[in-house]
Amino acid sequence: MSDTQTNQSWGGRFTESTDAFVAAFTASVGFDQRMYRQDIAGSIAHARMLARIGVLSSEDCVRIVQGLEAIRAEIERGEFVWSLELEDVHMNIEARLTERIGDAGKRLHTGRSRNDQVATDIRLYLRDAIDAIQVELRRLLGGLVDLALQEAETIMPGFTHLQVAQPVTFGHHLLAWFEMLKRDDARLVDCRGRVNFMPLGAAALAGTSYPLDRDYTAQLLDFAAPCANSLDAVSDRDFAIEFTAAAAILMTHLSRMAEELVLWSSAQFDFIDLPDRFCTGSSIMPQKKNPDVPELVRGKTGRVNGHLIALLTLMKSQPLAYNKDNQEDKEPLFDTIDTVLGCLRAFADMIPALRAKRDKMLESARRGFATATDLADYLVRKGVPFRDAHEVVGKAVRLGIETNRDLAEMSLAELQGFSPLIKDDVFAVLSLEGSVAARDVLGGTAPNRVRAAATRARNWLMELNAG
Ligand code: ARG
Repeated sequence: MSDTQTNQSWGGRFTESTDAFVAAFTASVGFDQRMYRQDIAGSIAHARMLARIGVLSSEDCVRIVQGLEAIRAEIERGEFVWSLELEDVHMNIEARLTERIGDAGKRLHTGRSRNDQVATDIRLYLRDAIDAIQVELRRLLGGLVDLALQEAETIMPGFTHLQVAQPVTFGHHLLAWFEMLKRDDARLVDCRGRVNFMPLGAAALAGTSYPLDRDYTAQLLDFAAPCANSLDAVSDRDFAIEFTAAAAILMTHLSRMAEELVLWSSAQFDFIDLPDRFCTGSSIMPQKKNPDVPELVRGKTGRVNGHLIALLTLMKSQPLAYNKDNQEDKEPLFDTIDTVLGCLRAFADMIPALRAKRDKMLESARRGFATATDLADYLVRKGVPFRDAHEVVGKAVRLGIETNRDLAEMSLAELQGFSPLIKDDVFAVLSLEGSVAARDVLGGTAPNRVRAAATRARNWLMELNAG
């Protein structure tokens, strides 16, 4: 296919053909051809609606539908020849349709513009993408819940300021990740609801003089309803911004998880073992096993954040209605989708294969005076005001630092030197197991609370997957 004079779709008023560089510069077919399925689905629905209202004969409608289905098959077999002169996915498919079925193909574009067509295609594409992302996200959520149940009693140090703070259970830590990602899931559900409105019928910007049955087209395409205002329908890309914002938050969560996985798999922490298949070696240092997958996920967060800024900037100051600027929505959006899908898939595969080094975690929790708060709480229960108890325990910790011992490793007599109220029941309190078991409050780290939370999480997931 080539263009000797002017573009056949809009060349009527032109006296010279497009500059070759400009044609390449303005074309989007290189990246929007991935919406071919949505473009064809939208055209089929539009043709059926035109036939229903009598604007298109039923013979033409049948030819159009069959022609479009044949084109879809051509594309999927890799036989379709995409042409730069035809600018975008829409005109490529329409030109091929006319080539295959003649004049009926030229009737398809009645009561429609590429402006409402492209806005519809993106919404359909994004809707499918959100569904695919949610499958992977929920697979990851399921993996976290299973691992949390397995590790409900595993003790590790909990950190604030990356300093040992109080002992927690590894299951509890995993369920913190679960909660973060569960909110991401809710954001995607919410966003999908606003994506799911249909621009078709807005035509170029003002609506159309044909008596379109927009509700019928929307129903065929499974949209909640047609967009209410034609100018808005062809113009705004807030749904893409909103999705990318949700994706950026999701990536931020994955990046935080990634950072912890990287730290934990270092020799200095040594809390976990990532399976070899998710790591790579070094060509120079034979001992290395690098946590590439989490590192890359952490790094890819940057590009999604960048896409969010790109889309916000793209829309800023655009006058109504459609502007060619909007063609620039696709690459950031598509790359966001690809990136999020890839990262989720990698994590969903990797998390269930992660091995917790329980004794290393326990050993680490024993250092850093993780149960100092428990000793203070113990004194409070004996009537000491918390601020005084804090002071007493601070002194005990100082002795521990000087003599390189944990509080639990001191003798009763030594501890009583700090407060005579301390009795030999203190050792149950100073034990790591006692400390986590004592956090027996809703949302707390006690193993029974972790198991209950994991069970609730699992039920929530099962309900989601059922309906
Ligand atoms: N390729 C264009 C885009 O992605 C399709 C819409 C073009 N409409 C127009 N009036 N030039 O936005």
